[in-house]
Amino acid sequence: MTVADGGPSSLVPAGADEGPLLCVDRVCKSFGGVRANTDVSFGVRAGTVASLIGPNGAGKTTLFNALTGFGAADSGSVTFGGRHVQRMAAHRIARLGMVRTFQSIKMLSGLTVYESMLVVRPGRPCSRTEMRRRADEVLGRLRLTPFANRVCSELPLLAQRTIEVARALMCEPTMILLDEPTAGATVSERQQLAELIGELRIAGTTVMVIEHNVPFVISISDQIVVLDFGKVVADGTPAEVVANPVVQEIYLGQ
Ligand SMILES: Nc1ncnc2c1ncn2[C@@H]1O[C@H](COP(=O)(O)OP(=O)(O)OP(=O)(O)O)[C@@H](O)[C@H]1O
Ligand SMILES: [Mg+2]
Repeated sequence: MTVADGGPSSLVPAGADEGPLLCVDRVCKSFGGVRANTDVSFGVRAGTVASLIGPNGAGKTTLFNALTGFGAADSGSVTFGGRHVQRMAAHRIARLGMVRTFQSIKMLSGLTVYESMLVVRPGRPCSRTEMRRRADEVLGRLRLTPFANRVCSELPLLAQRTIEVARALMCEPTMILLDEPTAGATVSERQQLAELIGELRIAGTTVMVIEHNVPFVISISDQIVVLDFGKVVADGTPAEVVANPVVQEIYLGQ
């Protein structure tokens, strides 16, 4: 991945020469007669940002669910850091370092931002003092400190989306999966989310994002995986994917 490929304008990340952190191999998932994922295979390298794009109903959220223990695949394998996770419960996968946010925001009603951070259980024994220190650090990093004592559900959308990321970071993840973090965001909010993703990447966190906005995806991604009708139809750098005639025809409509 280089700047010439059209992706994020920073250096090749540490770990880029190692094997993939996340390996998805021939994952299939059906709901009755609906084949939501069919033989989905790709890898995501540590320290990179990968995007998962595709039309509505292409199977993106179903795949995130399968990767993170919220709805196991019918067949195929998922390895994270060399461990098979396809039959693991979500909390065990989180303990291994892979966490996710959800497409629809699920704020804990009535809790302040700070309180909502402290109910997340990190993957290792952690004292209350250490939890508070971690919450302070994450809120500061994500510029959420001014909101710490505000009730989550009363905050603007961007703050709520950022709180979701902050809560995920309480688990000290090595990889974070974001399901449509920019849904409903304004142009300037989208820009701030792009900056946040860039900061996560610089901090060494591997990121995978489901997203519909193609310019946004191109600006943040080292790798783009395209799903259509549950199948991977393209997987490569932003430049490779944008130039792919199949992608242009079925997704970009150009
Ligand atoms: N729990 C479920 N029960 C039945 N069908 C489901 C279920 N979850 C997803 N589907 C179906 O599986 C297919 C893929 O859905 P999925 O939500 O994964 O798509 P998506 O790519 O995330 O779409 P969007 O961009 O609209 O969020 C769709 O046809 C959807 O209706
Ligand atoms: Mg979805």
